[in-house]
Amino acid sequence: MEKLKIAGGYPLKGTVRVSGAKNSAVALIPATILADSPVTIEGLPDISDVEILKGLLEEIGGQVKLSDNEMTVNPSGMISMPLPNGKVKKLRASYYLMGAMLGRFKKAVIGLPGGCHLGPRPIDQHIKGFEALGASVTNEQGAIYLRAEELRGARIYLDVVSVGATINIMLAAVRAKGRTVIENAAKEPEIIDVATLLTNMGARIKGAGTDVIRIDGVDSLHGCRHTIIPDRIEAGTYIILGAAMGDGVLVDNVIPQHLESLIAKLSEMGVYVEAGDDQIFVRSASRLKAVDIKTLVYPGFPTDLQQPFTSLLTRAEGSSMVTDTIYGARFKHIDELRRMNANIKVEGRSAIVSGPIQLQGAKVKASDLRAGAALVIAGLMAEGITEVTGLEHIDRGYSNLVEKLNGLGATVWREAMTEEEVEQLKNT
Ligand code: EPU
Repeated sequence: MEKLKIAGGYPLKGTVRVSGAKNSAVALIPATILADSPVTIEGLPDISDVEILKGLLEEIGGQVKLSDNEMTVNPSGMISMPLPNGKVKKLRASYYLMGAMLGRFKKAVIGLPGGCHLGPRPIDQHIKGFEALGASVTNEQGAIYLRAEELRGARIYLDVVSVGATINIMLAAVRAKGRTVIENAAKEPEIIDVATLLTNMGARIKGAGTDVIRIDGVDSLHGCRHTIIPDRIEAGTYIILGAAMGDGVLVDNVIPQHLESLIAKLSEMGVYVEAGDDQIFVRSASRLKAVDIKTLVYPGFPTDLQQPFTSLLTRAEGSSMVTDTIYGARFKHIDELRRMNANIKVEGRSAIVSGPIQLQGAKVKASDLRAGAALVIAGLMAEGITEVTGLEHIDRGYSNLVEKLNGLGATVWREAMTEEEVEQLKNT
């Protein structure tokens, strides 16, 4: 087991290139199951979620090649192998195997997904969608059993705007008979990316990126080549870091329109941010103004950037309120930031950050992926050495983090933990 060590407090400068989007990758890879011939996805990030999904496709008989961030999946030999346990538990997005396998084989057995603990994360809307398409869905000892004689298009109104449910229903519906309409669909860029891949595979989808998606089912889908979109959350993480410590940081390979809510908030704080075609330049300011943020579905402020943004707010003058309307309990990073001298109170779904505070290096633990990103940013802002444990969370979503940070002039390295440290960690 390793920990991350950060010698913080120094300005950062240079260019960082953003990788392919994790939350697209974890849906695009299962989507390949729906084709009858090989699908290639270019630009995948180097993250453990991609490796785990590769292993899962191989378990069901897929032939998968992954090198230089490009994956080719030959799905022709796949079978509907039950996956009640094992790797499916390691990531939340294994739920996309439900939609994809149901769509292709009309049956699937998938263990309930794992992933970050952000409070309750039900999948009732996914199930409602599968049932509307004609599947019977049962939960037996922690695994979801899905079966359908035939899938038929349906009109499905989502009671909660959900990225996962929107994509999962699309996956199940593209090979169903007739038309499916998803109303109150999520509009995140990752949904458009998945719809683009499926369309290139021969699916007929209209309206992805709006709140009504229409899908006309087809009998079969074929292979194609697809380039993934850049990761707006990874980009946002480096932009926030640039806002906190940047003496001129250029974040390359971004779609600036995906980050408008973040750019607006940073400008309000007094950070210099300039968006180009596919790059964003950011420079910190000596004084930053406090701002309030409220996370919302896209295009609102993303919940996945709430935790990293909280670290930045510790430098702002005054009191900032951070409210998460998507995950009311996504505040596990706060106790760790307090160890680093931050002045933050949690009240219900909100955190109130009082600043400015000079963070101090400390030993902290990442409890989930974006909490990890928040602590890395805090470590780079802090005076002294910060040690971050719980790297397995960070490795799920940040491609080549150490190399990218050091490329900006940071001093960050991984170090093996002693047996005693591993033992201590288990007991916390
Ligand atoms: N919800 C339900 N029922 C459902 C589905 C969702 O009540 O059937 C609720 C959730 O509990 C939550 C809200 O709806 O309060 C939004 O959940 P959503 O389904 O949109 O989340 P998700 O698809 O499970 C994806 C990302 C998350 C990101 C959220 C919100 C993936 C694999 N994960 O999760 O990413 O926070 O959308 O944008 O795409 C991350 O990258 O760190 C991460 C957690």
